[in-house]
Amino acid sequence: MKTAIYPGSFDPITLGHLNIIKRAAVCFDKLVVCVMVNSEKVNRGLFTPEERVELIRRVVQKLPNVEVDCSSGLLAEYARQKKACTLVKGLRAVSDYENELQMALINRKLNPRLETMFLPSSAKYTYLSSSVVKEMARYGSDLSDFVPREIIDDINAKMAAKLGG
Ligand code: PNS
Repeated sequence: MKTAIYPGSFDPITLGHLNIIKRAAVCFDKLVVCVMVNSEKVNRGLFTPEERVELIRRVVQKLPNVEVDCSSGLLAEYARQKKACTLVKGLRAVSDYENELQMALINRKLNPRLETMFLPSSAKYTYLSSSVVKEMARYGSDLSDFVPREIIDDINAKMAAKLGG
């Protein structure tokens, strides 16, 4: 059984993430989408990790070999626990590469059986990120080209609560 992990902050999941999930899911027996802590973004979250998991579950419910989880630990250790041999990462632009290469090398150092596979993002989503989505939500823009339809209301409500409070 070949298990891969697609880790990320997913705050919130975007159509770019979903595109990577669908393409990776056909390559492995099981794909675990794992919401993890990015120490550089730790105090900038819109959704809690549990809320992010719930949003992702809603979006991937028709993909039978995709599981959703969260972890606050080290990715290399999480992969060991899940008996996963591959990490999947999406690359939008060359600017993503340097940081992702460093993380891939660290993760393999910590867990020598762990490979990282990079999937180039679909051309139509190269500009898209969770940060861009949050910025647009802040100004009340239409999010339908950027995030799955099922979660638009959640993002708008969360942003309104954050700005109101
Ligand atoms: O979507 P992001 O923010 O680019 O995802 C980055 C993430 C969460 C995958 C990365 O920060 C991560 O792997 N965090 C878990 C802790 C860890 O294992 N760090 C790398 C080795 S020090």
